[in-house]
Order: sequence, then structure tokens, then C-alpha cells
Amino acid sequence: MKIVTTIEEVRTQVKQWRAEGLTVGLVPTMGYLHEGHASLIDACHRDNDRTVVSDFVNPMQFGPTEDLESYPRDIDHDAALAEAHGCDLIFHPEPAEMYHQGFSSFVDMTVLTEELCGLSRPVHFRGVCTVVSKLFHIVSPDRAYFGKKDAQQLAVIRHMVDDLNMDIEIVGCPIIREADGLAKSSRNTYLSPDERKAALVLSQAIRLGSGMVRDGETDGAAIIEAMKQHIHAEPLARIDYVKIVDLATMQQIPVLDRPALCAIAVYIGSTRLIDNFFTEDVTG
Ligand code: PAF
Repeated sequence: MKIVTTIEEVRTQVKQWRAEGLTVGLVPTMGYLHEGHASLIDACHRDNDRTVVSDFVNPMQFGPTEDLESYPRDIDHDAALAEAHGCDLIFHPEPAEMYHQGFSSFVDMTVLTEELCGLSRPVHFRGVCTVVSKLFHIVSPDRAYFGKKDAQQLAVIRHMVDDLNMDIEIVGCPIIREADGLAKSSRNTYLSPDERKAALVLSQAIRLGSGMVRDGETDGAAIIEAMKQHIHAEPLARIDYVKIVDLATMQQIPVLDRPALCAIAVYIGSTRLIDNFFTEDVTG
């Protein structure tokens, strides 16, 4: 496995693979890899001849008061994990390699980014769409892999690829959880031992809501209220949102009469965590 830092090195390597008739998959990450990322790399390795992992904490998707500086980074750990799961090339650029002096072109999206994390983090999806577009142009993969934990991001990327006629298959992979239910996230490392216990309210609320859907509840307000009540009982938790949205538009819907996403964002202390369930995964 190689680690490269320049766009030119990635292009040279991918051109060589293409000349050999090989398929290429991309796993975009911000590093600090965990089992969730490992499952994406496994899927990519299974489906493609060559696997590229990008490892770049993208400044453009962080708001001015967010955790860009403190976001955890460990390239040696990332390299070992990625290689063990079949990665062939890590692209680990400096910010200046991705955003040269005078950079002024952006990819942005309306409707799908109006709710959920798009509402709480106004610049986030413009940063995500821009960097993912750049990575797609740099690597030109056949397929790219994203986790369902970032469900709105997955929907936004699928929509962008469709809108902008990018010839790339987007593969969504299941949420990977700790044994006690907490969804794996690089941000879990911010939690103190007490907060780590408190963070279980997220997966508990998801189990509660998805159980109601499985039992036939279709009233969105009833599901949201039950989930909110459960989270409110935890003193260290503060709700950012608990919402049910149409899977296609990411707009809120009152009744579960179509494929929907139930998504939550909750602050545990100062750490903002997200979790969700897709109604179609519950009802089959
Ligand atoms: O999901 C992430 O880690 C990031 O948003 C992504 C897709 C790598 C873009 O920076």
C-alpha cells in the first residue's frame, strides 16, 4: 500500500491501473479510522480491483465555531487499519494541495440540505459537496462508499451525482455500532466516561422509534415525541433535532406513507452525535 500526498501522484497511479484494465473504488474519509470505515474499505475491496482511501480533514465543511482544530488525526493508525482491510492507496493531502491560493469554485445544493444537519450546520454540505466532487475528479473511481450513519450526506451525494451526471456508483453501507449500541464515530473519542454512558440515549431512542415503526406506527409526531421524551430523561443530553423526513427530498413529513429517514442529532456535553434509521430497513 502507498501513501501519497499530491493530486498528481494519485492521477499517475490511477492512470496506470486503468491502463491495466482494473476497476477503482474510493472510500472518502476524514481519517481517524474505526470499524465503520473498515466496513466501507472491506466493501470497496470486495467490489473493485483497487481501493483508494482519501484521508483529509476538510476545513471547508466545518463552521467557524466547530471542531476543525481538535478533530482527531492519526495517519499511522489509519495506514495500518486501511492496509489490513485491503486498501491499495491512501491519499493524504495537506489543505493547500486541495485548496490552492485563490480557490473560489464551490458545489452547493438546495432542497436536500435545508433540514437536519444542513439546518444546524449551514456551511457543512457546501464543503462536503465541494470536496467530494474534487475527490471524484482526482480519483475518477467506478464506485464510492459512504456510511448510512451520515444519512443526509449519503442522500446529498447520490443527488449530486445524479444532478451533475457523474458516472460513479454510490454505495451506502450499514451503520456499525459498538457492542452496547453506540454508533461508531471518530467524535466518540471526545466523550468522558460519564458522557460515553449518557451517549447510549441516541441508540436507545433509535431502537424505540424503529420499534414503533416495526409495530405499525405511522404517525411521525407520536414517534418523535416518544424518542424526545427518552432523550430528555438523560441530563447530559441536549437535543439538536429529532425529525422524520422523506428519503428522496430530506423534507419533513407528518405521516410515514413513503420511504423515510428518522434522524437525530444530540449534544452529549459539548459533543454533537448523530444516529438514524431508514424506515425501509425496519419494515423490509
Ligand atoms: O463523511 C466524512 O467523513 C466526510 O464528510 C467526507 C465524505 C469524507 C468529506 O470530507
